[in-house]
Amino acid sequence: MADGISVIAIDGPVAAGKTVVGRELAQSLGFASLDTGVMYRAVTWLALHDGISLEDETSLGELARDNPVSLEGDTGGRVSVAGHSLGTELRESPVEGNVSLVSKVSTVRKELVKQQRKLAAKGKIVMIGRDIGTVVLPDADLKIYLTASPENRAQRRWQEMLKRGQTVELSTVLSETLARDKIDSSRDDSPLRPANDAWQINTDCLSIEQVVQKIIARATGN
Ligand code: DC
Repeated sequence: MADGISVIAIDGPVAAGKTVVGRELAQSLGFASLDTGVMYRAVTWLALHDGISLEDETSLGELARDNPVSLEGDTGGRVSVAGHSLGTELRESPVEGNVSLVSKVSTVRKELVKQQRKLAAKGKIVMIGRDIGTVVLPDADLKIYLTASPENRAQRRWQEMLKRGQTVELSTVLSETLARDKIDSSRDDSPLRPANDAWQINTDCLSIEQVVQKIIARATGN
């Protein structure tokens, strides 16, 4: 399957379906998957835990360099960093509210991009993020850019939050989603945008399975 395709990049804004599509696509193809957002979340968690100022770019870069993030297995999104095993903490408000700020910092991006390229070097991987097709893996065999309307994305995030037991208004999630989009796409270093050679898929009216099948068809030429 997927003759000649070994490295797949999936980018797009928050809650466009990247992670679940990426994970299912990887499973279907027998590839590994890496959600790079959890790496930025893990560094954010560690900076808050260690009391590092989020304005201290030098210390944040050193923190990312000295504490590589490792994934605990292929699924579930748990990671280890500096001896801490992290899961749900990565989705809670301290990290949620600060990760966009940490991911703007070039010293942090430089270190994490290095780690991401190393992880992709073995091939057979679906890598998910914001800058994978543009910066991390510009030579990826297939680049996908998933989009969906802000309303649909906010609705999806809201439902995930309710499932996790978080109580929050849908309107709050919508304004946070718009704010996150703005920070991610207007930052100087590696802003969120589709690569010129990315295939854009709007997921508003598609199920996860339909999106995965579309990508497999493209990857396999069927
Ligand atoms: O995909 P996510 O919501 O878990 O990402 C968390 C944050 O990290 C988000 O603000 C975007 C940022 N990020 C990034 O800048 N580059 C990546 N490759 C992945 C995520």
